[in-house]
Amino acid sequence: MSHGLPAPRANAYRDAWNGDLRAADAGSEKRVAGWVHRRRDHGGLIFIDLRDRTGLLQLVINPEAGGELFTAAEHLRSEHVITVTGAIETRDAQNVNPNMPTGEIELRVATLEVLATAETPPFPVDSETKVSEEIRLKHRAIDLRRQGLRDALILRSQITNVMRQDLVEQGFLEIETPILTRSTPEGARDFLVPSRNSPGSVYALPQSPQLFKQLLMMGGLERYYQIARCFRDEDLRADRQPEFTQLDIEMSFVTEDDVIAEMERLMTKVFEVGGLDVAPAPWPRMNYDEALLKYGNDRPDLRFGLEIKDISEAISGSDFKVFESVIAGGGVVRAINAGQREFPRKELDNLNEVAQRHGGKAVAWAFVQEDGTWRSPIAKFLGEERMKAANEVLEASTGDLLIFVGDQAKVVAPVLSALRLHLAAHFGLVPEGEHSITWIVDFPMFEYNEDEGRWDALHHPFTAPTGDLSDPGSLRSRAYDLVVDGSELGGGSIRINDPAVQSRVLEILGIDADEAQDRFGFLLDALKYGAPPHGGIAFGIDRIAATCAGRESIRDVIAFPKTATGGDPLTGAPDAVDAKQLRELGLKSLVAEPGAPAA
Ligand code: AMO
Repeated sequence: MSHGLPAPRANAYRDAWNGDLRAADAGSEKRVAGWVHRRRDHGGLIFIDLRDRTGLLQLVINPEAGGELFTAAEHLRSEHVITVTGAIETRDAQNVNPNMPTGEIELRVATLEVLATAETPPFPVDSETKVSEEIRLKHRAIDLRRQGLRDALILRSQITNVMRQDLVEQGFLEIETPILTRSTPEGARDFLVPSRNSPGSVYALPQSPQLFKQLLMMGGLERYYQIARCFRDEDLRADRQPEFTQLDIEMSFVTEDDVIAEMERLMTKVFEVGGLDVAPAPWPRMNYDEALLKYGNDRPDLRFGLEIKDISEAISGSDFKVFESVIAGGGVVRAINAGQREFPRKELDNLNEVAQRHGGKAVAWAFVQEDGTWRSPIAKFLGEERMKAANEVLEASTGDLLIFVGDQAKVVAPVLSALRLHLAAHFGLVPEGEHSITWIVDFPMFEYNEDEGRWDALHHPFTAPTGDLSDPGSLRSRAYDLVVDGSELGGGSIRINDPAVQSRVLEILGIDADEAQDRFGFLLDALKYGAPPHGGIAFGIDRIAATCAGRESIRDVIAFPKTATGGDPLTGAPDAVDAKQLRELGLKSLVAEPGAPAA
């Protein structure tokens, strides 16, 4: 990876970067600076690997260099900060290190100055030592010195850089939107900030700049972008942080095809810089319904098969009561053909656990035998014909392992999605270095929330619907998501630009006219004064960087992330505040201070 630094301005600390020095520099005098990565004493010589952002350079100090210098070198310890001068020399052939860009040379130290000493760090600054995340986050300044994190942050910076360059070239304006604002609904809880000037009132931190970017379009600015920090108080996972960064974009007078084409141009450049080898654009578009049926979710990982198939019809009418009652109750039986696999009993039991973790009850399994019947606990209830009909749907042949789940479709989908990913990981079906990319389109506008007895927006309430507004369940939305390797990297839509439609959508969501005016009056008013057709998208920069860097967790591409419970071991946030500060804000804590008697 190119370090991207220009040659340093020569000063009292350095006139060259470690990582730039090569055999061609042999014979020249250089001054370099950095941290002592490692010190080795070797047959009277002292070797030091000096580290700066650009990499490692070997320094050599020999006893003849002079007593004082040699003594100083003997006292150097890991992570001391030093500056040295000396001649670049080529190494003897047997000492060349082909694994190091600077492995053909070394710097023979003539002067050495210690700029800062270091206590023994809490963990070694190398890539090999496994260190718990809590400790790494607590001592982040040390962790940042490790190559993996440094490289990830360099890559991330290159990614945001190419985004900016491309969008500026295309006439997008970078515009900042407020952080202290009102709720911007994206489906998560808000982080609230109490106001001192209006005790009892709060600001909300933005879940996204959604409404502001729409107002910018209504204001005639045509093309907007922002690298925007967003805040969502939701359950955290490897790909979710309470604060994260979006590349947020909005355009006027556009259709879905315009936004998608612009984004394909932009993201092609981003993936090039990120080293992610995806198929050339235009990228395929998959309907939401197809994704849900075949892969069990709307962010399918298409790097491997294991497609889900519906076998309800093939097996209906059997003596297997579980599946029969599911089918009779309007549910479905769906299955995955995992192919010819050895799968011990214990692993089969494990599948039940996976299913239960994702809201299912149990999993049925079968191995296809030579005559087409199954070796399976449910075989005797099904009868030969149904097994063969199911084999046909599943394109199953001798030795194949089949996994079934029967329940209501909305339970089956996430369970089989999880099982599909579990099986792919277990059998090593995810190909190294290959990536899948697809747009997901044609989403339903609303989803019925059984628990709350109301409709929820599948994207957000400002997405333009298509269809009959009197029948919420039938509406589709003009939304699109970009999915890479099973991760939703971005999502957006064409927006509502008709105030009557916007009011109707809010009404379907159970927000009556008064509440709508109170919460979104500023948007509804702006819509009345001539809103152009407009649409846009937001990409998760953390997810893009993690995908390009091949990291499992977005925490590995964020300089100062929160832990899985939303804490920051570095600063100790969140933390209690003193009573005076609370009083000024008109607040009183209901949580007893540690050690205090309960209120
Ligand atoms: P959405 O909610 O889909 O859309 O967010 C866009 C993208 O942001 C990323 N993302 C996250 N990344 C890390 N941690 C999180 N908690 C998190 N939540 C979301 C994802 C996601 O695809 N206003 C709309 C965009 C639009 O319609 O233009 C929005 O925010 O990669």
